[in-house]
Amino acid sequence: MKSIFSKYLSPEKWLIRENKWACPEELNVNESVLTLGNGYVGSRGIYEEIPEGTEPGTYIAGVFDKAGAMVAELVNVPNPIDFRIIVEGEKLDITRMDVLEHERVLDLRKGILVRRTVFMDTKKRRFLYESMRFFSLFDTHVGCMQVYFKSLDREAKIIIQDAIDDSVTNAGSILEGRKRHTQVVDVSSTGELTYMCVKTYTRKIRIAYTSCLAVARGRGQGMPTLNKIFNMSIDKGETLRFTKIFTIYTSRHISQRRIKAIALRDARKAAHMGFEELLGRNTEAWRKRWAAADILIKGDEDVEKALRFNIYHMIISGKEADEDVSIGARTLSGEGYRGHVFWDTEMFLLPFYIYTRPDIARNLLMYRYNRLNPAREIAAKQGYRGTLFPWESADSGREVTPPYAKNLDGTIIEIKTMDYEHHIVADVAYGVWHYHEASKDTGFMLRAGLEIMFETARFWASRVTYNKKKKVYEIKRAMGPDEFHETVDNSAYVNIMASWNLEKAHEYYEHFSKTKGFYLRRVSRKISLSPGEVKKWKEIAGRIKVTHSKTKKIIEQFDGYLRKRDIIIKQFDKFFMPILPRNVKIRDMSKTQLVKQADVVMLLYLFPEMFSKEEAKRNYTYYIARTLHKSSLSPSIHSIVGNEVGDTARGYILFLFSLYADLKNTHRNTSEGIHAASLGGTWQACIMGFGGFRIMSGMPSFEPRLPVHWKEMSFSIKWRSRNLAIRVKDTSLEVTVFSRKKGNQLIKYFDSVYKIPFNKKITISRKR
Ligand code: BGC
Repeated sequence: MKSIFSKYLSPEKWLIRENKWACPEELNVNESVLTLGNGYVGSRGIYEEIPEGTEPGTYIAGVFDKAGAMVAELVNVPNPIDFRIIVEGEKLDITRMDVLEHERVLDLRKGILVRRTVFMDTKKRRFLYESMRFFSLFDTHVGCMQVYFKSLDREAKIIIQDAIDDSVTNAGSILEGRKRHTQVVDVSSTGELTYMCVKTYTRKIRIAYTSCLAVARGRGQGMPTLNKIFNMSIDKGETLRFTKIFTIYTSRHISQRRIKAIALRDARKAAHMGFEELLGRNTEAWRKRWAAADILIKGDEDVEKALRFNIYHMIISGKEADEDVSIGARTLSGEGYRGHVFWDTEMFLLPFYIYTRPDIARNLLMYRYNRLNPAREIAAKQGYRGTLFPWESADSGREVTPPYAKNLDGTIIEIKTMDYEHHIVADVAYGVWHYHEASKDTGFMLRAGLEIMFETARFWASRVTYNKKKKVYEIKRAMGPDEFHETVDNSAYVNIMASWNLEKAHEYYEHFSKTKGFYLRRVSRKISLSPGEVKKWKEIAGRIKVTHSKTKKIIEQFDGYLRKRDIIIKQFDKFFMPILPRNVKIRDMSKTQLVKQADVVMLLYLFPEMFSKEEAKRNYTYYIARTLHKSSLSPSIHSIVGNEVGDTARGYILFLFSLYADLKNTHRNTSEGIHAASLGGTWQACIMGFGGFRIMSGMPSFEPRLPVHWKEMSFSIKWRSRNLAIRVKDTSLEVTVFSRKKGNQLIKYFDSVYKIPFNKKITISRKR
């Protein structure tokens, strides 16, 4: 792209390009793909002129509302990216004028979106329109947009319309239709700034915007204007420059009384700093983020770039310094799943943050901790003890799963996940364990982690029923990750996770009673926990039923699964994804052995020390032949396990499927937002799958298996306040353990353990 903004752009390997203007079908997909953000706010990659069919979306972490909706949903707040130019009666618009040239570029390294479009009006006059914008990763309340407009053939009279558009609505599901969640409560202007404040209808959250627009001719400084609609004239060959700097604040963290003063004060500061300085601060913040998060792949530049795209979206979704927000299933890039938080966060996204930004991982877990009370109420309402996290969570921590949703075949069905998908409880506990194991953040455990572990274990102890005849504990009427089978008895995933949860809680209790007795007693007192209750957890954990089929030598997914109609998938689409056999209807899925997503296979991934290689292979082989991957959570986990058990070709294809889920819109619904779990799953498929990284016996362990054409993969991992720089090659592992202290780190490489001295590059080789 030869653009006035080219000088800001990073090398090609960091750029995602839209080479032709998005046709109506692609318009909304590209809006999700090109989303900008900084963890605080997400803004879809719309065209500034708001063409027909566009879905402007601006979402603020933690801002939910319920007006007109069945359940609370992420609010589409007023859109600051609304800028239109009308040339003598014709709107510069990608869907209305002829487009001679067009390109947009998302710079993943700096989080900026650049555009260059040449329009032609009905009188055959050409206009060059160029824009660049970003939502600062450093000044997270600040966004900037710059537009250059040039009349190429003749002088012209133009009208400029600049807005923070408060008429935006949530798209709404097919059940409810569009709805608006905000109303304007204050509009004013002071000095060079425009101020607007809206309030959400039910939660009464105030969202304050300021905006400052400066107009310049040629290279001039530019004059601020308070006008929102104004006329200008432009000469042939002349360039106009518009610079818009805006800020967004909410009353989530600032009192209503002070919000205006703070917004205006910071807006003045930002306006004073100006575009270049703000951009510099943003770029520096991005540089630091990438230093911890980048993955380099020698031998496949396309994959490397696509991987960066996945990481970019995780970077713009993770919020710093906020223990009250989590990440929804579609991040802040769209309204799919209404912005709700699922197990996707703890099982799929969390590892990325644990190993690159542990402070953000901690925030995500604190979000759950801060919602233990509503979760206790959900448990009590369903007749259980302890805590039952909602299957879908928003701001309050209450259950927000909608009662109806669209099924895979388009029909509307009643939803039962909230009543049965109880594995969320153990998934959150697993997240706590994973974070603590990698960080050894004792402070977190004492403040929050232990209470989560104990209350989740307590839930399972009340959830099981004792089968006197068989002398085992059972979990009846639950749902595993495979949602094709809604209410089943003794789901292997649920039971093994429950057993693990009980066991771990017991282990933590024992450990902390020895090392931090005072704090343990304090937590125990708070939740009335007795040593007897904890002892019982251990007893239950050891006797939870898991059925192994003797004939097939696999774990049976749930009681009676193997008696269901057996269908093996034989047909695949162009992405090598399974095609549902013609004679099976979506509504009959529960009568078959077809599986929606990783279920038993998820266990093979999560507990590498629990299963032998042969067992893992047998289970994987059986279940993959019956898995339809009808969830974006599925391919990555199958890729990892496939890779581990020697199904490497398929493992790689599944990795690619996960990697390109949104870039190629393979699930056909990227328009509703980026698939968060797929981002995190893809990252895990790389680091845990190809890099073979796991925690084994409490130490970092690597059993790399790179795809044959990858010559090298390098990445970093934060491990207990050390930084591990890892370079994986075909037969060797290069490790540097950065630490401020002296000492060494034990690392497992295949079957051997090595003592790696700090701050020294060590290469471990392996004979083939
Ligand atoms: C999957 C769930 C997932 C949800 C949100 C569903 O289709 O089956 O496992 O949590 O999507 O991504």
